[in-house]
Amino acid sequence: MTNKRTLIVANWKMNLNTSQASILLHRLHERIRIHRDIEVVLAPSMLVLQPLSVQIDRRKFRLAAQNAHHKDEGAYTGEVSFTMLQDLVHYAIVGHSERRIYFNESLEDTRDKVAAALRNDITPILCVGETEVEHKNKETRQVLHDQIVTALSNVSSSEIKDIVIAYEPVWAISTFGGKLAKPSDIEPIFEYIRMQIRELYGPKAAKVVRVLYGGSVDDQIARGYLEIEGCDGVLVGGASLNYHKFAGIVDSTYKMLNEGKS
Ligand code: PGA
Repeated sequence: MTNKRTLIVANWKMNLNTSQASILLHRLHERIRIHRDIEVVLAPSMLVLQPLSVQIDRRKFRLAAQNAHHKDEGAYTGEVSFTMLQDLVHYAIVGHSERRIYFNESLEDTRDKVAAALRNDITPILCVGETEVEHKNKETRQVLHDQIVTALSNVSSSEIKDIVIAYEPVWAISTFGGKLAKPSDIEPIFEYIRMQIRELYGPKAAKVVRVLYGGSVDDQIARGYLEIEGCDGVLVGGASLNYHKFAGIVDSTYKMLNEGKS
């Protein structure tokens, strides 16, 4: 047993304008209590980060960016850097499959963003996962290996403890089909991810790095994933836009932890 806090991340994607986001935060605030063992992280759009940062109760919630540019500053029209986000967010989602697929982000782009996040004291939530075709071709381990090894290639052994990895099989994400993965089928993948960290950074690092699951998680099925050996939380897309469902995920996490998950 470790004393890692379970991480529940809401990825709002390109949804909710400022007032809609403020209303959702207000509802979540009413519904979610302070839990010492659980960290609840909200990833709104870039535009909404600043107003939410003023409204947020920091004992209950932390903020995450969904993306940022890997350079700290310069002539990159339309971009926002991790440096600019430094005082606003604790976390940044990096390498989400929608970024890799819709915006052609390469393994090296993801690597540079992981490094930029760490350089600016922001914890990267590195998303990895295979597509449906890769899954069918039994290439999952190879894909994860390439994604993890490349993304971490500039991460030192003192920085690795600050990384969060989210395993999100692309075929299980609602955007790309949303087929439900069976917890028993993905448990070995969690082991494999930790083995990668162990090989790169040793057994202590493999223990402390938090590994999350993401892909069509809602309040009804979250617990099945959270009970996977080595699963430290969930990354939630669609269901995080519904305060009832998202608060339900936090509730079921709290219930599970208090029944004594080992
Ligand atoms: P989903 O999204 O929960 O809607 O499948 C998860 C994600 O994209 O991180």
